[in-house]
Amino acid sequence: MASILEAGVQVGDTHMAARELFGSAQLQERIRVLADEIAGDYAERGSVHTVTVLNGSLHFSSALRLALAEANADLGATMTSDTIHLASYHGTGSTGEVKKISDLTHSVEGKHVLVIEDIIDTGKTLSVLVAELLAQRPASLAVAALLRKPEKLAVPAEELGKTVYVGFDIGPEFVIGYGLDYDGLYRDLSAIYALASVS
Ligand code: IMP
Ligand code: MG
Repeated sequence: MASILEAGVQVGDTHMAARELFGSAQLQERIRVLADEIAGDYAERGSVHTVTVLNGSLHFSSALRLALAEANADLGATMTSDTIHLASYHGTGSTGEVKKISDLTHSVEGKHVLVIEDIIDTGKTLSVLVAELLAQRPASLAVAALLRKPEKLAVPAEELGKTVYVGFDIGPEFVIGYGLDYDGLYRDLSAIYALASVS
């Protein structure tokens, strides 16, 4: 447990305890396996163009792209990368409203796109982004999400793209660490923690 979390986390009026869900080594191991699977799928396409959704995906994207590049070096697919900065969250509740803070540098037209997302919660952010990217006519589109909360999905699964690679499915709890924040805090912890209210 990171010492900053030992006293718990104050979320508005509620005091929450933090519980480690995935340690740093476990995250790295899962990401490596995911990268091997993804690289295998892209080898026949010959290229992959990653679109990292900032800010939450920073650490996941970095680890995944480094592992993908290594796997691709063996398999022969070329790799390019872009980022887009979206915001949709306030506190611990999804607003459902997606704001674009900064856009892609390049069109994804004709590219084999892999969207890299930290977490699929309600899925609203991803469904908006997927629709926008598909309108640019990529050659293909898949999503890699480190975490997914199946119980909270609030959009039809088809709207998230045909192929979704998932690191871990989790419960409906709010999580922090490894890119995921609570009001800007805890993003740079190397493990992932779930918050639970203490009665
Ligand atoms: P959505 O509800 O799927 O649209 O989630 C939108 C975004 O909210 C995600 O990409 C994350 O950046 C953020 N988010 C969702 N769930 C959590 C969480 O448990 N902790 C921190 N951020 C979250
Ligand atoms: Mg995100």
